[in-house]
Amino acid sequence: MSDTTQAMATRIDGKAAAEALRARIATEAARLTARHGTIAGLAVVLVGEDPASQVYVRNKAAATRAAGLASFEHRLPATTTEAELLALVASLNRDPDIDGILVQLPLPAGISAAAVTAAIDPAKDVDGFHPVNAGRLWGDGGGLVPCTPQGCMILLRGARDRLAGANAVVLGRSQIVGKPMAALLLGADCTVTVAHSRSRDLPALCRSADILVAAVGRPEMVRGDWIRPGATVIDVGINRVATADGRSRLVGDVAYAEAATVAGAITPVPGGVGPMTIACLLRNTLIAAARRRGWSEPDL
Ligand code: GUN
Repeated sequence: MSDTTQAMATRIDGKAAAEALRARIATEAARLTARHGTIAGLAVVLVGEDPASQVYVRNKAAATRAAGLASFEHRLPATTTEAELLALVASLNRDPDIDGILVQLPLPAGISAAAVTAAIDPAKDVDGFHPVNAGRLWGDGGGLVPCTPQGCMILLRGARDRLAGANAVVLGRSQIVGKPMAALLLGADCTVTVAHSRSRDLPALCRSADILVAAVGRPEMVRGDWIRPGATVIDVGINRVATADGRSRLVGDVAYAEAATVAGAITPVPGGVGPMTIACLLRNTLIAAARRRGWSEPDL
């Protein structure tokens, strides 16, 4: 082998990690059900007929049942008013059989996602989007953590010996991924930079990263020469792009083939972060159930 031969990055297998986590959740759920005689329950609410949301909701319900948890699905017409949705959320908040509530986003025009999110009991907010949970994430913790960033952290811990002291760059500042991701990395003693569309010299910022988390929703924006040699790259992007033969395929925010020749470890798309999100939703449901019902916290 010549000196110029480049070792390929380790491919971080999110599908396998998610399957392992789901197996641990199923074991814990069975243990808790055997001990307490009840089953943790997740309510998923879908308003309208958005095709992608219908697939997500179906997958969430199937995964919930497969883990041995109870799934409650509420499908409401696109004509539902905000008041009607808030009334459903209030009844789910009161329902002792419901441990987790997820209202699928986006919501139809005319319904405020912020108002609905704020109406969910923070103890049942398995998305971790409620302002109380967002605040706890930046404070002393103890709240419910958004699923996708939590999944990224589990993959990172599996891929790296140490997080403390690493330079971490998060590309993207969304409420759902970028901001909570930055909080979790800071909590793990990384030195964190949050970069976004107005940041100057993104390639140079990215090259400073021992850990790069890309969550901008722009297909293959991060090129191979943006990557620090040996870096750990977590690609949260899921972008559908047209192919030459008139079909389409999924790509991440990172140009995988280029980046894999430079990075130390990298998540593929699909099969990286994506499968972790639903697994972490089930994890949050079990954690919420344990806290609300006074069970010992599951080891997940
Ligand atoms: N729509 C797309 N992803 C999500 C998610 O993680 N939670 C909710 N509630 N809606 C979504």
